[in-house]
Amino acid sequence: MLKVRNLKKSFGENEVLKDVSLEAKKGEVIVILGPSGSGKTTLLRCINFLELADEGIIELDNKVIDTSIKPKGHEILDVRRHTAMVFQNYNLFRNKTVLENVTEALIIVKKLPKSEAIAIAEKTLQKVNLTNKNDAYPVQLSGGQQQRVGIARALALNPKVILLDEPTSSLDPELVGEVLTAMKTIAAEGITMIVSTHEMSFANDIADKVIFIDKGVIVEQGSPREIFTKPNEKRTKQFLDRILKEWTYTI
Ligand SMILES: Nc1ncnc2c1ncn2[C@@H]1O[C@H](COP(=O)(O)OP(=O)(O)OP(=O)(O)O)[C@@H](O)[C@H]1O
Ligand SMILES: [Mg+2]
Repeated sequence: MLKVRNLKKSFGENEVLKDVSLEAKKGEVIVILGPSGSGKTTLLRCINFLELADEGIIELDNKVIDTSIKPKGHEILDVRRHTAMVFQNYNLFRNKTVLENVTEALIIVKKLPKSEAIAIAEKTLQKVNLTNKNDAYPVQLSGGQQQRVGIARALALNPKVILLDEPTSSLDPELVGEVLTAMKTIAAEGITMIVSTHEMSFANDIADKVIFIDKGVIVEQGSPREIFTKPNEKRTKQFLDRILKEWTYTI
């Protein structure tokens, strides 16, 4: 379904992704773990062509793009149309209501009639448990509510893959749960998700595969059980020990 092969990306001298390969099968939830600066955001942005990788293959449903040969506009648009990104800082349109945030791309990009776009938006807002907020502006919402609008907006596009970049890390701890619940609801529908997150309980409960990335390379990957209970690599173990320690401090 989605395959990334030998992806490389540098910013100047800084080699951020060194040789990253991964695969997501249809309906799989993949969690990406890694320290700050390890390349998680860059990886997700390269998959969505918000950033153009220097080398490597991105394959979505048998459509193969070799990033070392400058991809054509229509190839990039095709990937963008079938992937949706949820950002750490929500990235909502501040001057648009909740409903307008969700319908915008359906009307402008997908060219759906307004009534159809509204029907889809209302259905996806319901899935993230956000009803009665259609006319609110982002500033009138809590962080958790804003992020749920972000998730509804991504889901409304009916993408093949949703990419979520630390979707809960800007939230106050008491608001994390409602966003994780929304993510679990959509994962249960069988949508393919790649999530960068430090939420270990989410990873443990929902992920089909956990990937640990450090300094631009995948150090290790496996089932949550394999990674959390018996990591092979010392770097993975050190990272997990640190994260779990931070966790017990915040509880
Ligand atoms: N647009 C850019 N221009 C230059 N350097 C960049 C750019 N984006 C990212 N980098 C660099 O790439 C490296 C990886 O950054 P990235 O944001 O992918 O890490 P991350 O794993 O998402 O970290 P965090 O957990 O803090 O979000 C960092 O050294 C960063 O400074
Ligand atoms: Mg990041």
